[in-house]
Amino acid sequence: MLLDKNEMPIVAMEFMNDVHAQDIEIINALYELVLAYESEPTQENKKALNSQYNLWFEHTIEHFRGEEVLMVEKSFPPYPMHKGEHDKALAVMDDVYRAFEATSDIVMMKQYISQTVPQWFVQHIQSMDTVTAMFFKSGLSPCSMR
Ligand SMILES: [Fe+2]
Ligand SMILES: [Fe+2]
Repeated sequence: MLLDKNEMPIVAMEFMNDVHAQDIEIINALYELVLAYESEPTQENKKALNSQYNLWFEHTIEHFRGEEVLMVEKSFPPYPMHKGEHDKALAVMDDVYRAFEATSDIVMMKQYISQTVPQWFVQHIQSMDTVTAMFFKSGLSPCSMR
């Protein structure tokens, strides 16, 4: 197991915590497939990895969209900053997928899934998602806090 749900940072909105917990399950399953391909680089293992990666990509699009729709609806002032982090993360996910498709470089893929992604995930939840969830719940914008 790569990520432990019990150690996931919790935010003030339950729907966001639920999506993050689902994301952890998907990333953990993806990591297992990365290890499988690393020890046995067959076409079959690559296919399984790619298909889980695509599932994770689709889930992440929905994950981000769910937060963005509510941010727009509630006129969250730092929306562009939060959306910017989402867009950048999706662009990197797409780049890594394409690079792996082209090169089958499992060292690069493993490094991304086991280091970059968990770091980003925790850091993003602790900053952007935490502040945003607080705003959803209380109506308090970080800009109006003293
Ligand atoms: Fe999130
Ligand atoms: Fe977010």
